[in-house]
Amino acid sequence: MSSIRRAVAADLPRIAALARWVWLDTYASHGVTAAFAAYVEDAFRPETLARALAQDPMWVIEGPPDVVPPKPGARTDVKPNPRSRDDDIKAAGLPAAQALAPAPDLPLQAWAALDSHTEPGRVELTRLYVAPTCQGLGFGAALLRHARQAHSTRSLWLSAWEGNARALTFYRREGATQLGETWFELDGRRHRNEVLGWPPLETTT
Ligand SMILES: CC(C)(COP(=O)(O)OP(=O)(O)OC[C@H]1O[C@@H](n2cnc3c(N)ncnc32)[C@H](O)[C@@H]1OP(=O)(O)O)[C@@H](O)C(=O)NCCC(=O)NCCS
Repeated sequence: MSSIRRAVAADLPRIAALARWVWLDTYASHGVTAAFAAYVEDAFRPETLARALAQDPMWVIEGPPDVVPPKPGARTDVKPNPRSRDDDIKAAGLPAAQALAPAPDLPLQAWAALDSHTEPGRVELTRLYVAPTCQGLGFGAALLRHARQAHSTRSLWLSAWEGNARALTFYRREGATQLGETWFELDGRRHRNEVLGWPPLETTT
């Protein structure tokens, strides 16, 4: 059974490796260019991730090593970490606010990161990465809902490359609407990203 919990510093080497794996699997469909190699090395350094973790919580899903691709129609439930406090989960829909012990014996399967400091009115979902072998199991949806609950009075937004059809379909299925566009530059080339978002889960008075 896979479970969601808040990431701790000890997770960062595994998060970095997972992020590089997912990023290359998603974007390096024609092979790994020097620019791609430089990007993944720099963007996912554990020390870079540690700075982000100091600003905002991150969440991970870890689980048994025998995850198999889902059969058509099969559903895999993602449960809150059984070591978290039930009251916190019921109150906030989240694992315990304080960091739980990581389980280094379990494979890390998915990761989500936020930026809640750059803009006062809204929160950016900066990363949502599910291991290629674990996609389609509901992990992305579970982490996305977690992120929305964590800042339920603020809107959530993200940018997704226009060529990432699966992610765009996934976000729209989760209720996102298009807010605009932005451009990601890599190796002198500009890549159009769609900006998508959700309103706050709760309205403030
Ligand atoms: C896009 C991404 C985050 C979606 O996460 P995911 O875990 O694969 O998505 P989910 O399983 O939650 O939902 C996707 C699919 O599973 C289905 N699904 C949703 N909940 C499910 C569940 N509990 N059990 C089984 N299937 C489920 C959805 O209907 C959807 O169907 P699809 O196969 O037709 O797309 C993931 O594929 C990913 O990490 N991709 C690579 C990196 C990336 O593109 N990140 C986003 C950058 S902006």
